[in-house]
Amino acid sequence: MTQQRSYLTTPIYYVNDVPHLGHAYTTIVADTLARFHRMRGDETWFLTGTDEHGQKVEEAAIKQGLTAQQLCDRVAPRFADAWKTLGIENDDFIRTTEERHKHIVGKLWHRISQAGDLYLETYQGWYCVGCEAFYKESDLDKVAEAFHCKVHKARPVEWLDKERSWFFRLSKYAERLIEHVEKNPQFIRPEQYRSEILAFLRGGLKDLSVSRTSFAWGIPVPEADPEGRSHVIYVWLDALTNYYSALCDHGELGGPRVEKFWSEAVHLIGKDILRFHAVYWPAFLMSANLPLPKSIVAHGWWTIRGEKISKSMPATRIGPIELATALGEPSSYGFPIGVDAMRYYLLREVPLGNDGDFTFESLFGRYTSDLANDLGNLVNRSITLLGQGFAASHLPTRPAQLTTQNSELVTSAILAIKDATHHLEQLAPNRALEAIWRFVGEVNRYVNDTALWKQLKGDDHATTRQTMYMLLSSLHLISRLIAPVMPHTSKIVRDILGAGPATWPTEVDGDLMMQAFDLTPPTATTPLFPRLDAKQQDAIVERLVPAELRATALPPTTEPAPAAAKKAKKLKEPEPLPGPATIQDFKKLELRSGRVLAAQPVTGTTKLLHLTVDLGEAQPRSIVAGIAEKYPAAAMIGRQVIVVANLAPTEIRGVRSEGMILAAGDDAILGLSALDGDVPPGTRVR
Ligand code: MSP
Repeated sequence: MTQQRSYLTTPIYYVNDVPHLGHAYTTIVADTLARFHRMRGDETWFLTGTDEHGQKVEEAAIKQGLTAQQLCDRVAPRFADAWKTLGIENDDFIRTTEERHKHIVGKLWHRISQAGDLYLETYQGWYCVGCEAFYKESDLDKVAEAFHCKVHKARPVEWLDKERSWFFRLSKYAERLIEHVEKNPQFIRPEQYRSEILAFLRGGLKDLSVSRTSFAWGIPVPEADPEGRSHVIYVWLDALTNYYSALCDHGELGGPRVEKFWSEAVHLIGKDILRFHAVYWPAFLMSANLPLPKSIVAHGWWTIRGEKISKSMPATRIGPIELATALGEPSSYGFPIGVDAMRYYLLREVPLGNDGDFTFESLFGRYTSDLANDLGNLVNRSITLLGQGFAASHLPTRPAQLTTQNSELVTSAILAIKDATHHLEQLAPNRALEAIWRFVGEVNRYVNDTALWKQLKGDDHATTRQTMYMLLSSLHLISRLIAPVMPHTSKIVRDILGAGPATWPTEVDGDLMMQAFDLTPPTATTPLFPRLDAKQQDAIVERLVPAELRATALPPTTEPAPAAAKKAKKLKEPEPLPGPATIQDFKKLELRSGRVLAAQPVTGTTKLLHLTVDLGEAQPRSIVAGIAEKYPAAAMIGRQVIVVANLAPTEIRGVRSEGMILAAGDDAILGLSALDGDVPPGTRVR
């Protein structure tokens, strides 16, 4: 195979964020693809970094009594350190406050200006500081008198009133962009996002404000404003340039790394920032007369109970390091096995472009079935059996002629290699893992069917040695196939087998299966991926989710938590039932599904929450609920509830209440009504 080149990037993360599972996901996907390319011998460059300018960072610095640069220097290592812990092997880490970057942004601005694409104009409109983006009112949600973007529900958008700013002639590039997207089906992937962008482009583009004067934390606009104002460059124009500036040499727009990698650039991003990457970025590059990247690959969101995992939603924050550590302490192997369990779960659970809801059930389900029962069990028992074989002086021997059983195993191996390669090339790591796990299943079956433990006790030594050979080589192959997603587990298995660094297998390797390593007796270590019983699972949930959010922010594990069980016992006997209700009585009540958009305590009370609930109507409802002692406001945001929707509105403690949410318990609320699927707001409940 000819050597190819690959340049993979993640978005650069807002420096002031704390790395969460969503950030980790993008970075792990990019790392997996980069490892896959490196293993194939491709010349690979993998970039990540931090986005350090903008109003958000300036505001945070002021709050903490620091200069913006001090704040950035203090917090930027959080991302770099987190990635190290999660086994991310990036080749470069760019910070937008570095000179090498700022210099290139200035040069890009200059080129755009030379192309005649900048002019001064007055901007007026909505701005979301969380997204650092401008919005049309029709794209916003109105919640309790304020407008919010779809992501930042905790902070409303701001009205920028007549700010003078430099505008970029984005509208000029609409046709060229459409042509590029149409001619290059690989430019925006997966297909659903390509269609979304084409529809957006066909709707026409408005020019874009690309400088700000109302704050100072950014790269200064290099061009003099004839009206004398100082501008900083719009943070997205600054940030997007990182993909290019990180390749440049000595502050020049170009250099050997640009030559080598730029045309191979694949930007991996979350769907929330697709427009910036698929519209603004290529338009800036077109204006500056620079080539476009090869591909923009968007993935979906990780949510918790339907709510996007993000900094602004405390109830959704699951620390990736904490989760990985809870799933397996690094000390047991010398390698952080929990990191691999988490990497596996995130990549296996959802197809790349789709959203995925994080639940402990699905996490423990995957862990138990795929890691403990399939891979762990295979490795653990094979090592024991092979160890016994070596101890009895049996040296694995390559069969001169394959029995049907052995030849079926080889066929499965070839198929696994072919499918895993194809799916990784197609950016479908979940399907690659499925294919690899089919092979893991086949090898487990092979161990059962050949009954190696019996062979070891028998006299047919030739067959025993051949079975050992087939098993060893299968483990070796698995260690190579899992390496992009599970680098530490791969290393553990390879260390046990005495194998060297993993390369990506080709179909020929599948045929010969094991030529590439010395036969060393495997040394048993602590079992890989031991099963986690219900108690251990509960302990993990307790460790990761703050007590006040545990009951609501995340679904419970399979068994009730001990505290909840105790409380349940203390319940009084249920009241006797009142007389029967007719179906007509029941029909008088209109029950509808709702989703909580915002929640806050009602001042002066400990029991009441003021909820804003979407019932699929033109306006969300204002509802007061007496649940605050059990459900903190933060835990309610994003939750589905059942609402009695046709009660006459009333006022409670001065707050209008236009409905009631169903809950169990009289004096003390014990639990909220729930729907076990994602039900559109307003759906009738009967
Ligand atoms: N700084 C900008 C990106 C500039 S790139 C030139 C930014 N930063 S961010 O920190 O808010 O988010 C970066 C990326 O993190 C998202 O695009 C996405 O890739 C990832 N995710 C953040 N939350 C996520 C989920 N809940 N789920 C999956 N990925 C998410 O936007």
